[in-house]
Amino acid sequence: MEPVEGAATFQASGDAYGNFMGRYSEQLAAPFVHWAGVAAPSRVLDVGCGPGALTATLTRRGAEVAACDPSPSFVTACTERFPGVTVRAGRAEDLPFDDAEFDAALAQLVLHFVSDPPAAAAEMRRVVRPGGVVAACVWDSGGGMELLDRFWEAAAALDPDAPIDAQRLRFGASGEMAGLFIDAGLADVVETTVTVTAAYRDLDELWPGFLAGVGPTGAYCTSLPADGRAALRDELNERIGRPSGPFSLSAVARCARGRVPSTTVRE
Ligand SMILES: C[S@@+](CC[C@H](N)C(=O)[O-])C[C@H]1O[C@@H](n2cnc3c(N)ncnc32)[C@H](O)[C@@H]1O
Repeated sequence: MEPVEGAATFQASGDAYGNFMGRYSEQLAAPFVHWAGVAAPSRVLDVGCGPGALTATLTRRGAEVAACDPSPSFVTACTERFPGVTVRAGRAEDLPFDDAEFDAALAQLVLHFVSDPPAAAAEMRRVVRPGGVVAACVWDSGGGMELLDRFWEAAAALDPDAPIDAQRLRFGASGEMAGLFIDAGLADVVETTVTVTAAYRDLDELWPGFLAGVGPTGAYCTSLPADGRAALRDELNERIGRPSGPFSLSAVARCARGRVPSTTVRE
């Protein structure tokens, strides 16, 4: 399958993703699933599953899980990690599943990457039965995601042409995802935040994550020449307080959930 637009920066291996963002998303999954109200027995779709952080939590909670992602390497990683889970190649905007197939559809750290968020929200609603749950979370765009915020601050300090990570910032402000869900016709839409913390032994444990080419930060980092990468590493080190040993960074996720109306009127 040809990589599609939103997945273009997610062609890294599952292990590379795990060392970089997985250390956050594996922690985020449990409180997000709990807040979404998913309880066994239920059939749940993990939209934009990556290597399977959310799928892992859902299967542990006894849900019957299906998953999809447009990144071929992540589809392979998730399939190998969870042989009992149906993992399909597919985008949120065009989910490869039937109407009302699930009790819930969840997307963790995905909505800011999709090219057509209203279509994604409509698709998540379509595949969930009336009364079921649609929920999503993305990193806070107000300074709540220390790893990515410090990285882009360092990049901007060195390179006036550094791309502003506008895609990552979508839906990261209060009310934005709720607005998307309300516009998609979901009922009882509410939002919350969840904070997770990642511990690092030292900068040498953190830095290789950027060199693995995962996501927009990895794509930017690997586009730099060696001296540019070295300067960026030094600048990042300054901005996280020049740790001489173990340190941790926190990340705030904004979460939204809604319910598919029991009486569905479709245009
Ligand atoms: C930050 S990762 C999150 C992965 C996983 N949900 C997690 O929590 O670790 C973003 C994921 O969104 C996927 N993605 C990008 N564009 C997408 C789209 N249009 N539809 C569905 N998933 C998409 C990427 O391939 C990647 O797996």
